Amino acid sequence: MRIGHLLLSGLVIIGFGILSTQTAKAADLAILSPNVTAIMDGGKLYDNWFAVLEVDKPTQTHALWPASNTKKKGNVTWRCKSCHGWDFMGKDGAYASGSYKSGIKGIRAYEGKDPAAVEKILRGSAHGFTPAMIPDAALSKIALFVTDGQYELDVFIDRATKKAKSNAAKGKVIYDTSCYLCHGKDGKEMNFKTADAPEYLGTLANGNPWETINKIRHGQPDSQMPALGYMGNKTMADILAYTQTLPIK
Ligand code: HEC
Ligand code: HEC
Repeated sequence: MRIGHLLLSGLVIIGFGILSTQTAKAADLAILSPNVTAIMDGGKLYDNWFAVLEVDKPTQTHALWPASNTKKKGNVTWRCKSCHGWDFMGKDGAYASGSYKSGIKGIRAYEGKDPAAVEKILRGSAHGFTPAMIPDAALSKIALFVTDGQYELDVFIDRATKKAKSNAAKGKVIYDTSCYLCHGKDGKEMNFKTADAPEYLGTLANGNPWETINKIRHGQPDSQMPALGYMGNKTMADILAYTQTLPIK
């Protein structure tokens, strides 16, 4: 009886431990940070700094981009996300395969570290981000994003199927009131790619849920789309679940 109780309370404690980690991830602590505005900007710069800053795009392929990957070259190889991924896990995440496969590690280890250490890495000769490319103010936002703004979506997205594990009905309410004005009720108002190979909201949500959440959280660089990360991971995941029901072509 006593041992039974002990075992039971042990299980409860372990269970609570798992639950509270999941609750913390679900809550998205970055949006409670005093630096939340800089972090939100930083995530958009991580996506595409030259589009956000409206500076000249680099023309060469980045020196750290591996010669083994000939699918990508030129300016796209200078975006943080191209090497480190939308899930920040690099070779251990979604970019373990596909056209962005590079073998480069992720940036998860720098979560919670000193932003100055990240700035130093970015200004170093290997990364080669000069102040003419990314001025100090923008660089410090990217660094803050890396240390205080990374987020984890495994609670909400099944890695194998890419399906959202969240509430599409709740997401529909937000979509039909906040997103449809720009994207259309069916998500097809804007085509993000070409007429021959169109990419609509439904296409992206199913093909790359991590990118979709990043765009919702930080906004689309150099466009009217606002950063909506204040809603928190759970609500964004609900929107993702709904957009995965929209037509893919
Ligand atoms: C062309 C690919 C490429 C681009 C673009 C790139 N990085 Fe990196 N990054 C690397 C490589 C390769 C390493 C590993 C270097 C090493 O450990 O020797 C690295 C390492 C890092 C690390 C240290 C990770 C660790 O655990 O040691 C951080 C942080 C980082 N990069 C952040 C960024 C940010 C932020 C950007 C965008 C401003 C960026 N990187 C753009 C290739 C890239
Ligand atoms: C004020 C208009 C506006 C609102 C509101 C808006 N968006 Fe956008 N969104 C845009 C624009 C403009 C783009 C850029 C399209 C492009 O690059 O071709 C975009 C891009 C995106 C992308 C990235 C597409 C890509 O492939 O790069 C996603 C995902 C997205 N929006 C989802 C949403 C969701 C979900 C909502 C509601 C929570 C929303 N947007 C609200 C205007 C808006």
